[in-house]
Amino acid sequence: MSAASGSVPALPGPDVPDPDAGPGGHGPLDAPREAVLELRAVHRTHGTGPAAVPALRGVSLTVRPGELVAVMGPSGSGKSSLLALAGGLDRPTSGEVHVEGQSLHTLDRNGLARLRRRRIGYIFQHLNLIGSLTAVENVALPLELDGTGVRRARRLALDALTEVGMSELGDRFPDQLSGGQQQRVAIARALVGERRLVLADEPTGALDSQTGEAVLRLLRRRVDAGAAGVLVTHEARHAGWADRVVFLRDGVAVDSTAPLAGVEALLSGSGR
Ligand SMILES: Nc1ncnc2c1ncn2[C@@H]1O[C@H](COP(=O)(O)OP(=O)(O)OP(=O)(O)O)[C@@H](O)[C@H]1O
Ligand SMILES: [Mg+2]
Repeated sequence: MSAASGSVPALPGPDVPDPDAGPGGHGPLDAPREAVLELRAVHRTHGTGPAAVPALRGVSLTVRPGELVAVMGPSGSGKSSLLALAGGLDRPTSGEVHVEGQSLHTLDRNGLARLRRRRIGYIFQHLNLIGSLTAVENVALPLELDGTGVRRARRLALDALTEVGMSELGDRFPDQLSGGQQQRVAIARALVGERRLVLADEPTGALDSQTGEAVLRLLRRRVDAGAAGVLVTHEARHAGWADRVVFLRDGVAVDSTAPLAGVEALLSGSGR
């Protein structure tokens, strides 16, 4: 019996190892299947001796392209510590972190900085805007540091600011913006260019609920376009935008569930 319709190759499911997608496999067909982020049995202890605080105790997590994972847990459970390791801002005490197949512990400071500028968008729990730069300059900075020309960087930065509804305020300095507006600039900076891994630490903290929803929709759209995302949040309603929820308690990932509510339901129920 002939299978005439069999011209489209089937993609392996997420749990099937792909023999072709080795670390060097960056062809267009291989790329979507490779995990963007992989934490392997990661431990992180802050400080030493009697003052040592075990922030993470053996956490493993894989995030693939098109996947948004929410991380929830009480204050102090290790959420920001996890994100900092995933973003290469901190190194694990033991265990390994891989981003797009690259093991972060093999990179020196410069290699890590380059990977962060090119591939990783990071929305900090506490805003890290540079006060002496305008909104558009803040957003353009990672691109310029990476060699993009000033004019092109500015244009991409304006595009990203437009995405977060801030196109009119690009020439203001951070202290001339409200907390929520600053938050949106920080989000634009994390999304500008071609970031493959977007890490967001309570990105809606300083936003009213409507702007918060808009930001999550933006994050979701970026992930649907092929990025991988990790969203730290305290709100179950926000975790509903994710494909999976990982709960942290005392530095251990205790549970991983299906989404709390379908994204479709949220979209159709948002009524805006
Ligand atoms: N630089 C540090 N030095 C010492 N201890 C730290 C450091 N950073 C974090 N910790 C400790 O590690 C644990 C995890 O902190 P982390 O910031 O990851 O928590 P969190 O889940 O993000 O909390 P929150 O919801 O309050 O932001 C906490 O006990 C915290 O006090
Ligand atoms: Mg935190």
